[in-house]
Amino acid sequence: MRGDAMKAIGVRPALKEVVMLDHQKPATVEPTQVKVRTLDVGICGTDREICTFVYGGSPAEGSDYLILGHESLGEVIETGAKVSTLKVGDLVVPSVRRPCPDPRCRPCAAGRQDFCQTSDFTERGIKGQHGFMTEFWVEDQKYLTLVPPTLRDYAVLAEPLTIAEKGITQLWELQKRLPWANTTPGKRPGEGLNAVVLGAGPIGILGAMKCVLEGFNTFVYSRSKKPNEKATIIEAIGAEYISNLEVSPAELAKHIGSIDFVYEALGVAQVSFDVIDVMGMNAAFCFTGIPEPEGKITIPGNQLMRNLVLKNQLIYGTVNADGPAFAQAIADLSEIQTRWPEALQKIITARFTPDDYNELLVGKPGGIKNVIAFGQEP
Ligand SMILES: NC(=O)c1ccc[n+]([C@@H]2O[C@H](COP(=O)([O-])OP(=O)(O)OC[C@H]3O[C@@H](n4cnc5c(N)ncnc54)[C@H](OP(=O)(O)O)[C@@H]3O)[C@@H](O)[C@H]2O)c1
Ligand SMILES: [Zn+2]
Ligand SMILES: [Zn+2]
Repeated sequence: MRGDAMKAIGVRPALKEVVMLDHQKPATVEPTQVKVRTLDVGICGTDREICTFVYGGSPAEGSDYLILGHESLGEVIETGAKVSTLKVGDLVVPSVRRPCPDPRCRPCAAGRQDFCQTSDFTERGIKGQHGFMTEFWVEDQKYLTLVPPTLRDYAVLAEPLTIAEKGITQLWELQKRLPWANTTPGKRPGEGLNAVVLGAGPIGILGAMKCVLEGFNTFVYSRSKKPNEKATIIEAIGAEYISNLEVSPAELAKHIGSIDFVYEALGVAQVSFDVIDVMGMNAAFCFTGIPEPEGKITIPGNQLMRNLVLKNQLIYGTVNADGPAFAQAIADLSEIQTRWPEALQKIITARFTPDDYNELLVGKPGGIKNVIAFGQEP
């Protein structure tokens, strides 16, 4: 490898190849930029989906490949002259989405590219910009969140937790329509309410942790029967795990009483709409799952519409997250580490070397959250 080159893991979409590349080491160009040495990169369904070459995964601008990786933790090794918020040695997590170039896009102009109107945004490691599955990367300070050293082993989970952070911030914004809700001083906003999390993958487990932190009585409704590793984590945080192979949605609703909030983390439309059908009065349903676009399901449309109206229900979707959601994710990971250290530890199945990329991206590695650790010899 040349002296100015480093290892990177990426895809060449035109050739449908998942490869280990030599990529030029990045340098800070702008005075507000920071150079970061990668420590951990999480692998998620999005990375694996890009490697199927069916949807998404456009190369970085000016390149015929895309470096993967959007769930990252790194250490600052260099700061530009105008970097005021970070110093060498700090741990940081980067956000993923960058604004579109259209000056008329009000969300992007307001720094809320997670709500971009044009769809011309880029996403590091996903769409049009190289990601973090490489030894070094450079980013503007405004897209970085400081991580306390105590979270060194877990901050790679910040990005998948931000999905719940944004989803639940949106929930409380939307439920301002219920002016008597969550207003008692000293009470957490979910206290006395029931939340159902659909799915027990990393998005569901982290979503369930957030629901418990918010004070909800939390139930996780997923597939595999107990006993299993995911159910063990769910029970360790004081939530209840229920398999839909054993309990129907109607039985679930009867068991819980009123379902006030549903955080969907399945990517399965049929199960989701079956649960919408049994939600309670004034309930809200947050979709995060991204199923393949093909395929049709059968739903009781008239019944669902009646319920939405007669029960004042709402359904919303959420994607990506803003800077404050990252800051909240870091704060919540610290609380999770204090309250449920063993459950948190179990979410990260294993750390692998970069050379294991093929099995992790296109094989059947199993586990909950697999992480590639950079800068460590096997
Ligand atoms: N909105 C966003 O910004 C965003 C960001 C990242 C990911 N996502 C999406 O979030 C979803 C979840 O991601 P993930 O990484 O946590 O996924 P995952 O690891 O595949 O987990 C899915 C979970 O759903 C369960 N499940 C699957 N099919 C089911 C069924 N028919 N009935 C009941 N349970 C079922 C699985 O059960 P088992 O445990 O038995 O396998 C598993 O626990 C995906 O659709 C992903 O695309 C969205
Ligand atoms: Zn991800
Ligand atoms: Zn935009």
